[in-house]
Amino acid sequence: MKSYKLFLLPGDGIGPEVVREVVRVADWFGKAGLVHFEMETGLVGGCAYDAHGAAISESDMALAHAADAVLFGAVGGPKWDAVPYDVRPEAGLLRLRKDLKLFANLRPAICYPALAEASSLKPELVEGLDIMIVRELTGGVYFGEPKQIIDLGNGQKRGIDTQVYDTYEIERIGRVAFELARKRTNKVTSGEKRNVMKSGVLWNEVITALHKREYADVTLEHALADSLAMQLVRAPKQFDVIVTDNLFGDILSDIAAMLTGSLGMLPSASLGEADAKGQRKALYEPVHGSAPDIAGKGLANPIAMIGSFAMCLRYSFGLGTEADRIETAIANVLASGLRTADIRGNASHVTGTVEMGDAILAELAKS
Ligand code: IPM
Ligand code: MG
Repeated sequence: MKSYKLFLLPGDGIGPEVVREVVRVADWFGKAGLVHFEMETGLVGGCAYDAHGAAISESDMALAHAADAVLFGAVGGPKWDAVPYDVRPEAGLLRLRKDLKLFANLRPAICYPALAEASSLKPELVEGLDIMIVRELTGGVYFGEPKQIIDLGNGQKRGIDTQVYDTYEIERIGRVAFELARKRTNKVTSGEKRNVMKSGVLWNEVITALHKREYADVTLEHALADSLAMQLVRAPKQFDVIVTDNLFGDILSDIAAMLTGSLGMLPSASLGEADAKGQRKALYEPVHGSAPDIAGKGLANPIAMIGSFAMCLRYSFGLGTEADRIETAIANVLASGLRTADIRGNASHVTGTVEMGDAILAELAKS
């Protein structure tokens, strides 16, 4: 039986609860004799800060580098609102992305038919929705320098963030988007603000040139990021793959998540460049956050986390059939009417995290 090394970083809030369900799914594959996962667990975010004063320790960073894939839960919460900026919970996640060079963030927004009712949009607008947001993850305003607050000495301060993109960064994320589109419905929409930002002008130029040179068979459309946000809620099914920068991708993927019924539904994969053996560093995380208001209550929806594990099987280990089995199990459980509170819709009864995990495991066993 093949064996892979997973490094688990459950983090804060509902992170540990949803990661626990993924561990059960991963163990199931081992018990079924299909594939074995060796799992080790570390600390990230507020819990890491409490334990050793940093958002992630050097030894956990080393384990993340050594693993075949990292499974990440969520970080942050009001408890750490006042900790210094450099060691705030989110710094752990940003360091993982940067140090592992995970430049490509894939956020698929799929609206399961059974959930069309749970979306805040009209069911006919979202039913059958299947879009892929490709977010650049290691550049732009998240990491650009200078990034600081300076004292102007006259009772005024100045906050500075720097939006910066080089050609190679735009090209490599563009390539990921075009390659994915070829396996889907062959359309890419590229979003930037070329009407206001120089980095947007360059983004547009580089994507256009790459398309002409290597991907002329794919339909390419450009959109201004604000208009893209509007179109996403007006007529989301017009999109296939959306490629955009780090900050716009952060915002647009939250919108896309809500189209699917709940933030609790959206998985994600963060991938690095393939090495000589075709292996990529990778981290898988749900798009939802730590949800401190429901943490520890057993109410969280584990589907985005379990869906992230399915992405891990598909993108890191080439286990497409096994990933399909998980995704089908999720779809069947939703079709059966089982709902956590976040996707309640009109359901009269809501279920908890573990019961949702149980139901998905039972479906897997049947498949
Ligand atoms: C996300 C999150 C993160 C981001 C936060 C937690 C730093 O919102 O993954 O979308 O802004 O990238
Ligand atoms: Mg976000």
